[in-house]
Amino acid sequence: MVRRQNVGDEVHLRGLIELSNHCRRNCLYCGIRRDHAALSRYRMSRQEVLACVDQAVTMGYGTVVLQAGEDPVLSGPWVAELVGEIKSRTNLAVTLSLGERGQAEYALWRQAGADRYLLRFETSSPALFERIHPSLPGVKSDRVAILGRLRELGYEIGSGVMIGIPGQTYDDLASDIMLFAELELDMIGVGPYIPHPETPLGNETATGPQQPPASELMTYKMVALARLACPRANIPSTTALATLNLQQGRELGLQRGANIVMPNLTPVQYRSLYEIYPAKACIRETAAQCHGCLRGRIESIGRTTGTGRGDSPRRRQDAPTAPEPQKQ
Ligand code: 5AD
Ligand code: FES
Repeated sequence: MVRRQNVGDEVHLRGLIELSNHCRRNCLYCGIRRDHAALSRYRMSRQEVLACVDQAVTMGYGTVVLQAGEDPVLSGPWVAELVGEIKSRTNLAVTLSLGERGQAEYALWRQAGADRYLLRFETSSPALFERIHPSLPGVKSDRVAILGRLRELGYEIGSGVMIGIPGQTYDDLASDIMLFAELELDMIGVGPYIPHPETPLGNETATGPQQPPASELMTYKMVALARLACPRANIPSTTALATLNLQQGRELGLQRGANIVMPNLTPVQYRSLYEIYPAKACIRETAAQCHGCLRGRIESIGRTTGTGRGDSPRRRQDAPTAPEPQKQ
């Protein structure tokens, strides 16, 4: 009800391109962390990315999301040129999800035309965040501060958390929801934490009355609470949720408050290498298969596929005179 009243029945599609699995960080939960030495690393060429972008246009998506590990070889100017090229040849909105980078790079990419930036704060508990996300030498991570600066640069900002991280508490989840509202996020991604055996956290178990489970049900509760706390945010039904319930996870996420799905456009030969957690959904499917799959799932629950870019409803409300850019 709250979802329908605020963002309608449309489900917007964002084509996800996982550009590179190189990462300079060593997050304790993440399968593409630096110390995962057995993992083959890849970095897509500009031509490969542009071929995915063309597919996004053919399939009628309004947005492409360029996501990667924190890969310094994807330099500021290289990314800026790529964004400029996408903006000059398509009407797509461009979302970047390239981790913690310098302010000059964020500014350069914004100038090049990037519309949105995704950076999950992962947990609102500073102590837990520090434990699972070691800072780089000499630079303390402060994702909340970064999100504020991204907004000042004019990006739509997206963030989110993992649910059921060992050591997390129910109070932390409540604070996560309050921080979503405080930051007035345009996009909120929440997904279950899924242990990866090749990571330090993957072999830890945590129990206790305060430990929330990394379950499907707890994820639905967080999706629903995010919708109630931030009625006009764009909220994806995430791949991590689909991984816990391949049959129905996507649909149930959409029926508990979500209004976005992110079909994967990454070339099949790279998908299994972007394994941030094991048994990730859509590892073997092609872009066309994910496209058909998601459209079918959206229709099966009586929702419609969004047209246009699916810009932040929260922003459109702030600036009622700004029309949504039309696709040609
Ligand atoms: N389980 C679930 N989600 C994960 N992510 C990274 N590793 C895992 C994991 N093991 C999520 C993080 C990150 C996003 C790209 O993927 O929240 O921000
Ligand atoms: Fe990829 Fe369903 S979305 S197979």
